[in-house]
Amino acid sequence: MAKDIYIGEVSENKEIRPDYYLMKVKLPLSFGNPLPGQFVMIRIAGLHDPFLSRPISIYSFERAKSALIIALLYRVVGKGTQILSGLIKGSQVEIHGPLGGGFEWPEQKKQVVFIAGGIGIAPLSLMAETLCRDACLPRESMTFYIGAQTAQSVIGLERLNDLCYNVHVCTDDGSLGRKGLVTGLFQKDIKKYPADATMVYACGPKGMVRALSKLFRGSAFQCQVSLEERMACATGACMGCVVAVRGEQGALAYKRVCADGPVFDLQQVIWDET
Ligand SMILES: Cc1cc2nc3c(=O)[nH]c(=O)nc-3n(C[C@H](O)[C@H](O)[C@H](O)COP(=O)(O)OP(=O)(O)OC[C@H]3O[C@@H](n4cnc5c(N)ncnc54)[C@H](O)[C@@H]3O)c2cc1C
Ligand code: FES
Repeated sequence: MAKDIYIGEVSENKEIRPDYYLMKVKLPLSFGNPLPGQFVMIRIAGLHDPFLSRPISIYSFERAKSALIIALLYRVVGKGTQILSGLIKGSQVEIHGPLGGGFEWPEQKKQVVFIAGGIGIAPLSLMAETLCRDACLPRESMTFYIGAQTAQSVIGLERLNDLCYNVHVCTDDGSLGRKGLVTGLFQKDIKKYPADATMVYACGPKGMVRALSKLFRGSAFQCQVSLEERMACATGACMGCVVAVRGEQGALAYKRVCADGPVFDLQQVIWDET
């Protein structure tokens, strides 16, 4: 999975909410149009502390005359993202990508449901936008469920309200939308969606993804999930990001989130039940 490494220029990096940043990076057109679900490994050009780049999903992109501008929506959680948050306009970053495969198309499905937890909204927003633009899916057929800790951490709502007819929000503390978990909110509505005619796209913290896995187990729902694992090489070489999946005829197999994912069929992923 040899992908190019580009030197990009930060054209914007603003804090849109406490600890949430939107960074725009100008890249050569040869980077190509990324697929929804793909990600980049990013680090400051020439800086090797922390040594490893950090994986961030592509939130949106636009083609300008002589450059491609990608937008990354990220939350500051540790040293790597803290360093990114300090970058100013004109800073140079090393971008490896676009990496991984994108979400599958919904094909014949009549309903599309997105379920995002926290910053999981990033790859799903690009998918919703792409389905509107390229698959001409009507707004009425797309529903978004967003869960976050507090109102402060519900990001990108305006863009989603433009794309989807129904956007349901919930927060752990009830400061915006319903109080509770996004999986609970979706579960209340699940009967509205015919399982065999609905495609679900999901991304969020492990707890949310596990809960969805339980909810869909044995059902006809098809759910494409973008998984988040810690990554080192992001080229498929180190095996540091493997997840257990059901391989051919249900046999246990291991897949690398960076090279074989990050998008998987949720029903194929095997969770450690301990
Ligand atoms: C394919 C992919 C796409 C991602 N897209 C986004 C995105 O669009 N926006 C965004 O904000 N984050 C995204 N992440 C998560 C992001 O990569 C991590 O938050 C980041 O690497 C943390 O680096 P750090 O040095 O700031 O924190 P660290 O100091 O390395 O860790 C701080 C905390 O974050 C946790 N953490 C670290 N890496 C990950 C990870 N990969 N997944 C889950 N938890 C992690 C650690 O367990 C620890 O609790 C994505 C991860 C993957 C694998
Ligand atoms: S991070 Fe090395 S194989 Fe995925």
